[in-house]
Amino acid sequence: MGSVVFDYDSAPERYRLGTAVARAHSTASLYAEVATRLVSLGARRILDVGCADGPLRSELLAGPLVVGLDAAAAMVCAHPAPAVRADAARLPFVDASFDAVTALNVLYHLADPRLALREARRVLRSGGTLLASAIARDDSPEFARFWRRPGTSFDAEEAPSLVGEVFGCVAVHRWDAPLVTLPDAAAVRDYLLGRQAPPDAAARAAEELRPPVQVTKRGALVIAAVTRA
Ligand SMILES: C[S@@+](CC[C@H](N)C(=O)[O-])C[C@H]1O[C@@H](n2cnc3c(N)ncnc32)[C@H](O)[C@@H]1O
Repeated sequence: MGSVVFDYDSAPERYRLGTAVARAHSTASLYAEVATRLVSLGARRILDVGCADGPLRSELLAGPLVVGLDAAAAMVCAHPAPAVRADAARLPFVDASFDAVTALNVLYHLADPRLALREARRVLRSGGTLLASAIARDDSPEFARFWRRPGTSFDAEEAPSLVGEVFGCVAVHRWDAPLVTLPDAAAVRDYLLGRQAPPDAAARAAEELRPPVQVTKRGALVIAAVTRA
């Protein structure tokens, strides 16, 4: 499995298009769900790995400290402070410095996500929690005849066992439901472009599918706690 193309500095508007379409037409928010879990865990110091421009931070405006970390300069600049530019596989923090680490739709960028998972475990205090999300290989099946997302190094099918290799016991929250409704051809095109589909495939889907198009979202949130002897 490969890792997903890193275009966040060369084409930050592609990521922003994808998040804008998802936000406008989804009935559920991963960021709101993760924020609720972080609050109920009582996390006071949170590291958001692959923070982009701060979708998680904007759900946690009051309360805990959210430190953003991203490999793309364009994203670090767009995230409210504090935010640092760094690699998920080499975190610039001392051991046991966070109550929670989030890695939402980011570990599929690493050829070996276990490097980042080990780093997340290192910077978590004993009892601290990792929350990592992953997209399923058969996500958005309505577009399969136009484009299929290539398999990655951290798809929802393998994410629990990869996290389990580093953390031991994991809990998995899966979703498989029509959570997005695209109202018109432009939204269909932009949804696919936002997911790195080739422009010709996005244009064909926009032309041939009859809106509104309901999109089945499939993925998983993997949750693991640090236990140290
Ligand atoms: C698909 S976006 C997800 C952003 C955000 N977490 C979300 O769910 O919308 C992936 C983010 O991870 C960042 N990223 C990719 N590889 C990374 C790495 N090795 N270390 C840190 N950040 C990385 C990208 O720059 C981008 O901002």
